[in-house]
Amino acid sequence: MMFSEKLINWYLQNKRDLPWRETRDPYRIWLSEIILQQTRVNQGMPYYERFTERFPTIGDLAKAEESEVMKLWQGLGYYSRARNLHATAKTVTQTHKEIFPQSYDEIIKLKGIGQYTAAAIASFAFEEKVGVVDGNVFRVLSRYFGIYDDISVPATRKIFQELANDLVQNVSPSLFNQAIMDFGALQCVPKNPDCSICNLSDSCHAFRTGTVNELPVKTKK
Ligand code: ADE
Repeated sequence: MMFSEKLINWYLQNKRDLPWRETRDPYRIWLSEIILQQTRVNQGMPYYERFTERFPTIGDLAKAEESEVMKLWQGLGYYSRARNLHATAKTVTQTHKEIFPQSYDEIIKLKGIGQYTAAAIASFAFEEKVGVVDGNVFRVLSRYFGIYDDISVPATRKIFQELANDLVQNVSPSLFNQAIMDFGALQCVPKNPDCSICNLSDSCHAFRTGTVNELPVKTKK
């Protein structure tokens, strides 16, 4: 079995039921990803529920007073996230007639949306074949495939992005991307993962060579 297949099998057995996985609405997926950028899932969940309750559509968010948006955000910190969220809701409403852009290349032009978030929205909402790359993905792919490039070097990202893009080609990109994030968060954790219960260990470079705690290579921070 290939990596993608095994990863998806793991996910089907172990996935977390999260509210933003019940929707294909790019607005809700975007909102969840912005909330989760510097926030744990359990802390972010009630904020996601309150935002979607108060602002069911991106047009509702665009119409709100900034003070109300900031008030709903209170407690999450990194308040520029909320200001960008509101500004981008207005842009999409006014410039795109309330239709969220539908491709990675268009989504990434929006304020406050970087490569990871653009890939998450494009794949989860539209099944675009683009891999998400974040800390979880660096860790999982470096270990499984034995990639020793230093992830503190900005140019290294491209290597992982290309591999992640290759890996989503023959599977559902939304399923694969959600799977690799949960696998990184729950199974292939930074310190002392329990490889004895992992269904990917028999073909994992790091497990086979005893280098699990040396990967990914990170020289700074
Ligand atoms: N962290 C960031 N995005 C996430 C997602 N879509 N599901 C679970 N955890 C996440």
